[in-house]
Amino acid sequence: MSAGPILAGVVGWPIEHSLSPLIHTIWAHRAGVEGYYIPLAVAPDYDSFARAMDSLRVIGFAGVNVTLPHKEHALRYADAASDNAKRAGAANMVSFSEAGAGADNSDISGFENALKAQFDAAPKNKRALVLGAGGAARGVVIALKSLGFSTIRIANRTMEKAKKIAAEVGLETVGWSARNEALDDISVLVNTTSLGMTGQPPLEIALDALSGDAIVADIVYTPLQTELLRTAVQYRHRTVDGLSMLAHQAAPGFRRWFGADATIDEALRKALVAELNTRGLA
Ligand code: ATR
Repeated sequence: MSAGPILAGVVGWPIEHSLSPLIHTIWAHRAGVEGYYIPLAVAPDYDSFARAMDSLRVIGFAGVNVTLPHKEHALRYADAASDNAKRAGAANMVSFSEAGAGADNSDISGFENALKAQFDAAPKNKRALVLGAGGAARGVVIALKSLGFSTIRIANRTMEKAKKIAAEVGLETVGWSARNEALDDISVLVNTTSLGMTGQPPLEIALDALSGDAIVADIVYTPLQTELLRTAVQYRHRTVDGLSMLAHQAAPGFRRWFGADATIDEALRKALVAELNTRGLA
């Protein structure tokens, strides 16, 4: 390992919206670690990604987070990959060591930990409904499986995409128009679609049928309090928002590359909310 400050960052295109530099900078400051976590804009094609990664390795980066559109590229580039990265077919972490570049997927463990933080007791049942069938849905489904959920339903506007994930991972598919009826006996509802995001159409779903102690999670974090989460709070459901998932997916990278603790607490959340407010996004 090279001497000097620890170097890490996040690779994506575009990247200027990323909150990861702020999260890591707060943790580094708290731990008194000398290091930098840098946003790195790398053009969408694989060759640009691979050349950037080769350079980061030479420069002595400890590792990087990887976001859209490079999560599949990260898996392809790496010399070795964790089971979660292989199962998801995508990685959001690449760590450099003498042994080479190792890919991991902390989107999965991040969602798992954000959800577990809401389980004051074990969930009443192990049934969940996931809305959406994109890359984020795949990670959420893998996390739910590893938390022991035995029934996972997936509803998506384009049924073919839901069927594809269902066939790979073993799930029940639900027609998009039947999503309300699929709510009545579940303990976790997760929105992984872009519906409800600023500038996107609203997510139309009636939560009346959802049991009182269910948890509602939304990967959207602009706005932070989506209509789905606001309604869920009115119904007294526990909620998991996109910031919680973001912070939980960031922690493994920080611990690994900066070698210090990454605590997710109210102060961190406040700083992130303040940043979103500054950007007019909260
Ligand atoms: P990601 O990989 O981040 O999950 P994505 O692949 O673009 O992103 O997936 C977006 C999800 O939002 C998809 O499930 C998409 O549904 P389709 O597969 O039918 O495209 C869903 N989505 C986006 N706009 C939607 C809309 N107007 N109505 C219903 N679902 C929508």
